Amino acid sequence: MALAGTAGLILPKTSLFGANAPSNKLNIALIGTWGRGEAHFNGLSSENVVALCDVDENHLAFGARRFPGAKTYFDWRRMLEQKDIQAVVCCSADHTHAHIANWSLNRDLHVYMEKPIGISVEEVRAVRANYLKRRNKVATQAGTQRHALENFNRVREWVLDGAIGDLQEVSAWGNRKLPRDGYLPAAGDPPPHLHYDLWIGPSPFHPYNPGYFKGGPGMNCLSWNMYWDFGTGQVGDMGNHTMDLAWNALDADLPLSAEAAGDPFNPEVTPVKLAMHFDLPANSWRGEIRCSWYQGGAMPDSPAKFINLNEIDHGVLFEGSKGCLVAGFNQRLLYPLRNADFTHYKPRPKDQLIPPLGDFQKQWINACKGDLQTACNFDYNGKMTEMMMLGLVAYRVGRKIKYDPVAGRVTDSEEANRLLGRKYREGWPLNG
Ligand SMILES: NC(=O)c1ccc[n+]([C@@H]2O[C@H](COP(=O)([O-])OP(=O)(O)OC[C@H]3O[C@@H](n4cnc5c(N)ncnc54)[C@H](O)[C@@H]3O)[C@@H](O)[C@H]2O)c1
Repeated sequence: MALAGTAGLILPKTSLFGANAPSNKLNIALIGTWGRGEAHFNGLSSENVVALCDVDENHLAFGARRFPGAKTYFDWRRMLEQKDIQAVVCCSADHTHAHIANWSLNRDLHVYMEKPIGISVEEVRAVRANYLKRRNKVATQAGTQRHALENFNRVREWVLDGAIGDLQEVSAWGNRKLPRDGYLPAAGDPPPHLHYDLWIGPSPFHPYNPGYFKGGPGMNCLSWNMYWDFGTGQVGDMGNHTMDLAWNALDADLPLSAEAAGDPFNPEVTPVKLAMHFDLPANSWRGEIRCSWYQGGAMPDSPAKFINLNEIDHGVLFEGSKGCLVAGFNQRLLYPLRNADFTHYKPRPKDQLIPPLGDFQKQWINACKGDLQTACNFDYNGKMTEMMMLGLVAYRVGRKIKYDPVAGRVTDSEEANRLLGRKYREGWPLNG
């Protein structure tokens, strides 16, 4: 009966049903509405942005100009009381990520979290556990959007298909150096538009200094992420992107040990120069392997004099029994070892190549409305980030430590166990 009289009605070209149906919009909250947050504006504009939160009133106004229908907040804890929110995109400072992820997951909300998803082993494990409890209800994505580059697929195919023989070792590195002496000195009151105490959030208080806010849009994280109470330096920054290029080809699980060395320990600032090594357990297609992260001048040895790894700002070296594979985010090269002639390796036919992922942010939006499947969910990214955070613990105790990945405990150092988590200010529980 409802169709009576609709003869001649022209239906829109877009599908009326399924993930892309006009009626099937997601109600999204955006935390951090400037800087990295702006990179999400276009992707979010296909959905209903119902809430915006920023501790800086000018930045909040910037977001509100793009999404005028959204309610606005300075405190994400208040924002999460808004009942129509279905999904959260978070681009705030790193020391708030695990809190926001956990609080959102505890309310059964889908989450897209900029990397890193936490800044301690305990934080990352809590986020992963909360996700795993709800993996049949929510979609999560950690913000390592380079994962959608097709080079990631080609690298994975070469490693899996045996182009370098049996995989033995993998090393990732980054060359960014941002040395600092310590927290910045007190420099008067914060400007009236900045809710500085909310910016500090769960972390111990440090007095305001404009130096924490001096970076341009999308780069301001480089003004605070090297301080222990606000971030983990390059480990959680480019380390998360670059180790993702390695882990995507490893089918890895949590490490069994960690050791690290670098700049002398500074209780206020994370090390610039650092090398961390992990033993990763064997899986169905490879044996146990050593996995390493190098930064700030520490580098793996090159497999050959004429491959200058220092020319690659952020890269990965896979070493196998027959050859090695050197990769940047967009390039890759195969190099034979021990006179290998590559007859051991047959490239995949075109129709068996790993298909492109498509737009990374869109993958998460579609997953929220559909099968909940994403490439960098909080299980995959959580394990990788937990490994990196454990490396910082090993760095702090200054020796190799053994790890029980099921219990999430170091088995041979109580000092290391005390460094797995961090303390929070009153009112900021990790799992609220
Ligand atoms: N995926 C990537 O390629 C990429 C690139 C740049 C930054 N990032 C990540 O994005 C995040 C933000 O980086 P940025 O350079 O834009 O930093 P930023 O300091 O500019 O912060 C972004 C916005 O979040 C707001 N904010 C900070 N803490 C907040 C809080 N507790 N509640 C609400 N709003 C808050 C700031 O006022 C600002 O408007 C970082 O975690 C960083 O690691 C990722």
